[in-house]
Amino acid sequence: MAASMRPLVRRVIRLSGTSVSVHPGGVSALSRCCRCFSGDTNTHFGFETVPEAEKAKRVYKVFENVAQKYDLMNDAMSLGVHRLWKDQLLHVMHPQPGARLLDVAGGTGDIAFRFLEYVRSQQERQKRRAARSTQTPSWQDISNDYSKEDLERPRESTAVVCDINKEMLKVGKQKADSIGVSAGLSWVVGDAEELPFDDDQFDIYTIAFGIRNVTHIDQALQEALRVLKPGGRFMCLEFSKVTNPVLARLYDIYSFQMIPVLGEVIAGDWKSYQYLVESIRKFPDQEEFKHMIEEAGFCSVQYFNFTGGVVALHSGFKL
Ligand SMILES: C[S@@+](CC[C@H](N)C(=O)[O-])C[C@H]1O[C@@H](n2cnc3c(N)ncnc32)[C@H](O)[C@@H]1O
Repeated sequence: MAASMRPLVRRVIRLSGTSVSVHPGGVSALSRCCRCFSGDTNTHFGFETVPEAEKAKRVYKVFENVAQKYDLMNDAMSLGVHRLWKDQLLHVMHPQPGARLLDVAGGTGDIAFRFLEYVRSQQERQKRRAARSTQTPSWQDISNDYSKEDLERPRESTAVVCDINKEMLKVGKQKADSIGVSAGLSWVVGDAEELPFDDDQFDIYTIAFGIRNVTHIDQALQEALRVLKPGGRFMCLEFSKVTNPVLARLYDIYSFQMIPVLGEVIAGDWKSYQYLVESIRKFPDQEEFKHMIEEAGFCSVQYFNFTGGVVALHSGFKL
């Protein structure tokens, strides 16, 4: 569906001095009200059963509450291992200069920062390789190289961080400013279920630790398919099912008994972190989620388990 046909009105607000486009459904999830009026169905919020319309509001509150301490808590809860999972995502993605990334539920920008850094280092590597292959060039070679460089200069890579939560994006943007990342990066408030982008726009769609918070996962997958270019890649990093029973038992003890305590001590918020642990248990396992991605229309769907299945990376392509 072309953007012009979508019944959307986009506004522009200012986030710490930067323009971001705001999808009306993004902030308040009002866009889903038609569903609540036309016969509400229930869903889960952690282990609780809630009306569908309620879930998005509660999820919004969770991330609004934890935004300031989100990065610190990630390091504390995973002992830094979330960084390795995210690095691994980039390693599998192996993006090339010029690629356009959409990182949905991108929060404080971890995936987008890694993406831009990865393509920058790829570009450097390609330049070094080209320089080595012409170590003693003639003046003619040099002049040819200059004109070739102009013609072959890759398009700039871009990363769009899209999240429903303004507070998470605000923290991400502050982080980007403090580490000096701005080129090619933009921040958009938007709902994974109704993305504020035209069809066939991105080479790669990522969603890291975000999809289990979405009320209608099938709808989010459809939107991922829509905004990807043909040949584009969907990649989802998410907590999954631990395969080894001993590790599963230890992981259960750690997550139910330690994570809410850490949440209380570090972020002053037990409930949000209890939701986190419960929402992980409610999310489909590796095979079931793979099936959902295939059902949405993606091809060559596969997954990789990290840390014994604590986290899985699912990948699929749009044909
Ligand atoms: C656990 S955080 C993950 C943040 C980041 N991707 C990372 O890996 O650190 C989950 C994010 O999903 C966002 N989120 C939840 N529901 C969403 C929706 N329907 N559309 C877009 N983002 C959503 C939350 O606001 C939150 O920033």
